[in-house]
Amino acid sequence: MATSCLLPCIAVLFLAAFVSSSRNMSLGPIQVDVPNDFSYVCDPQRFRQQGLDMDKFTYCNKSLSYQVRAKDLVDQMTLDDKVQQMGNSAKGVYRIGLPKYEWWSEALHGVSDVGPGVKFDNVVPGATSFPTVILTAASFNQSLWRNIGQVVSTEARAMYNLGNAGLTFWSPNINVVRDPRWGRITETAGEDPFVVGTYAINYVRGLQDVQGAEQSSDPNSRSLKVSSCCKHYTAYDVDAWEGVDRFHFNALVAEQDMLETFNRPFEMCVKDGDVSSVMCSYNRVNGFPTCADPNLLKGTIREEWDLHGYIVSDCDSIEVMVDGHKWLDDKGDDASAQTLKAGLDLDCGHFYPDYLKSAVLNGKVREAEIDRSLNYLYVVLMRLGFFDGIEQYKSLGKGDVCTEQHIALASQAAREGTVLLKNEGGALPLSHVSKLAVIGPLAKATELMLGNYAGIPCQFVSPLDGLTKVGQLLSAVDHVIYQPGCVDPKCQNDSLILPAINAAKDADATIIFVGTNLSIENEGLDRTDLYLPGYQTQLINQVAAVSRGPVILVIMSAGGVDIQFAKDNEKIKSILWAGWPGEEGGLAIADVIFGRYNPGGKLPITWYTNEYVKQLPMTSMPLRPVDGYPGRTYKFYDGPTVYPFGYGISYTNFRYEVTSSPESLRFTLKPYQHCYSQNHMNKDQDSPCPAIIIEHSECTHFIQVEVTVHNVGMRDGNEVVMVYSAPPPGIVGAPIKQLIGFQRVHVAAGQNVKVKFSFNACDSFNIIDAAAYNILPSGTHKIFVADESVPLEVNFDY
Ligand SMILES: *[C@@H]1O[C@H](CO)[C@@H](O)[C@H](O)[C@H]1NC(C)=O
Ligand SMILES: *[C@@H]1O[C@H](CO)[C@@H](O)[C@H](O)[C@H]1NC(C)=O
Ligand SMILES: *[C@@H]1O[C@H](CO)[C@@H](O)[C@H](O)[C@H]1NC(C)=O
Ligand SMILES: *[C@@H]1O[C@H](CO)[C@@H](O)[C@H](O)[C@H]1NC(C)=O
Ligand SMILES: *[C@@H]1O[C@H](CO)[C@@H](O)[C@H](O)[C@H]1NC(C)=O
Repeated sequence: MATSCLLPCIAVLFLAAFVSSSRNMSLGPIQVDVPNDFSYVCDPQRFRQQGLDMDKFTYCNKSLSYQVRAKDLVDQMTLDDKVQQMGNSAKGVYRIGLPKYEWWSEALHGVSDVGPGVKFDNVVPGATSFPTVILTAASFNQSLWRNIGQVVSTEARAMYNLGNAGLTFWSPNINVVRDPRWGRITETAGEDPFVVGTYAINYVRGLQDVQGAEQSSDPNSRSLKVSSCCKHYTAYDVDAWEGVDRFHFNALVAEQDMLETFNRPFEMCVKDGDVSSVMCSYNRVNGFPTCADPNLLKGTIREEWDLHGYIVSDCDSIEVMVDGHKWLDDKGDDASAQTLKAGLDLDCGHFYPDYLKSAVLNGKVREAEIDRSLNYLYVVLMRLGFFDGIEQYKSLGKGDVCTEQHIALASQAAREGTVLLKNEGGALPLSHVSKLAVIGPLAKATELMLGNYAGIPCQFVSPLDGLTKVGQLLSAVDHVIYQPGCVDPKCQNDSLILPAINAAKDADATIIFVGTNLSIENEGLDRTDLYLPGYQTQLINQVAAVSRGPVILVIMSAGGVDIQFAKDNEKIKSILWAGWPGEEGGLAIADVIFGRYNPGGKLPITWYTNEYVKQLPMTSMPLRPVDGYPGRTYKFYDGPTVYPFGYGISYTNFRYEVTSSPESLRFTLKPYQHCYSQNHMNKDQDSPCPAIIIEHSECTHFIQVEVTVHNVGMRDGNEVVMVYSAPPPGIVGAPIKQLIGFQRVHVAAGQNVKVKFSFNACDSFNIIDAAAYNILPSGTHKIFVADESVPLEVNFDY
């Protein structure tokens, strides 16, 4: 039977699993302040059991607005009560019928038990584990991103009903990948702020939106399926590198980079995703801990972007301010007062519960600031149905977790993300092989495929299992020989290479699985080089040298690896990047290798050579080339790469035709509007009106771009159409190009598909200049799609 309860009963269920299965047994030392046979707070029965009359509690009056109800709740609390609700483990107030609540749950790519809000047990032994985000990002398929969010929130809501999860999930991670060494690339959607922001909008809407209630005239009463959180705000992308760690690092960031790169996904997440929470990060930005910066929190998130929700700290961020950054030599109460005043509503940690009371009593912060934060928090819980329930989710239970469709979506996501990097002579897909050698320390990967912020998966399909299963199913393989080559990804010992060589010698085809795992790139662990670990390179070269049949290299990693040697090796016919593909990863890889699926993923990050990372420290934040360092990301770096951003081929070939209309735009400036011609524009050619500031403009000009994608090959395929704009030449500091739109399409062999884009001139042809103005330059812009380009003339009448 399904158990419906709020979070406090997690502990009860846990205990019950060990002691007895009876739910109304004596509960021993655990204090249970709510019975566990209800699914929401404002249930008269529940109040009666506590000896309370619900009608006396205005916060349960459904005919009043959430704001009024939240105010009523907060106004009944003492200062002691209030501060006990402001850590992630909110204690509840028994006296007024408010139960405990654990705010910290995670769902980065499936419901995860990394936070204390989620438990797997006999009732829910596992949840669907999707590929890590960087692979899902490589699909460039917005509907996939949203679908995954929808499935994750269905499982999350079902787990909430069963007492196995909370309602507030601190996912996704939307930091931009600025440096290829970063240990958390796996969690993110890559290096392009527009892609990351678009991913955020889709995933957040997938998690949060209640069908039929996606929009509302009052966003603060819009129902939420579960609450999502965009993190870690902001300019956070150094974990631990050469003695510098995130708990001490002060990121020096120009406003130009802030607007253009670091904050852009957050702005999109809040404004277009209508996310209900943002998390501030551990690092400092220009001296200030992000969680204590009133400009970043109140000024930007709350006021400028108009957040409907709450701001939470990264876990123990306030403690990190005191002990790591030693910010202003603060003690706990000063630090807590400062973050509260800056706009931090909830502390993932214990500083708020421990220190806010004395901060108020010592006059360091107004109690009204506490009330305001609590209001934001309770309005979110009300929107989630914590108080009233949400009818359409009441019946979700055990049968809605790890369903066949959910598992199928996990394998679909892995297939869609997989990137084909090399395929000489059409070596892939494999047709029939009598003897297949499967080599490499990642061939039997299981947990490895889940990356971090994982839960317990429904099941696993390792690459070796997948190849064996699909190979047999299609009668494509007679024998599979497996040799690990190394015991693990670190590959510190070459003694297993010889048996691998022997296996490959008389095989008709050899597939080598190499890459990294969490012991090489992870939270708190940045890389120092981009090479494959240990003896993996030797393993590949030696196996390739003796292989009789074609060699196929499968890279399983989060960040890029310098595999220039393999790209250049003629014996290695094909290279696939399969990321960390989630619980069904092995099936997806086999589907691609045997041609049941034609890969269409594109790299969401630049794969740099190792030379590149020798040229600049990870701690240098600018995106543009400065101080003799090369620029960062495809927007500002055009030197040699192993594979560029957006790279990925197919088993078929595509040809593009591009048209755009209109081909020129004229803006008529208003009488009070001036041409922007500051020195830092520095255009080669003197234009009388080099640019306009977008904030002062009516941006009603749209450009329609139509791309016809012809599949000129022999197989049906999937193609991601990526449209870039490039500003007129000669503008100092302008990006080389920037992605302005993308769409994934399926095109049957010999057919074509028309893809239409509509671009607002100010959103897609703008640049952020050195003074951090958002400007639209005049002159000839370019619209690029692969090798095709069309010009766009922009002129101003004044
Ligand atoms: C447990 O609850 C059931 C139904 O509410 C009741 O019939 C039973 O007597 C209770 N058992 C104990 C030990 O309290
Ligand atoms: C709920 O609020 C409405 C509107 O103020 C009021 O008319 C009604 O009496 C309240 N209900 C209870 C049970 O207090
Ligand atoms: C995009 O993803 C959806 C799954 O959400 C899938 O049905 C669709 O086929 C994908 N589109 C392409 C072109 O791969
Ligand atoms: C990752 O690799 C390390 C060393 O190579 C190994 O000890 C660890 O068990 C691996 N972890 C997973 C999840 O594969
Ligand atoms: C490598 O592994 C083999 C087999 O486990 C072992 O005999 C040998 O000592 C190891 N070599 C090194 C250098 O650790």
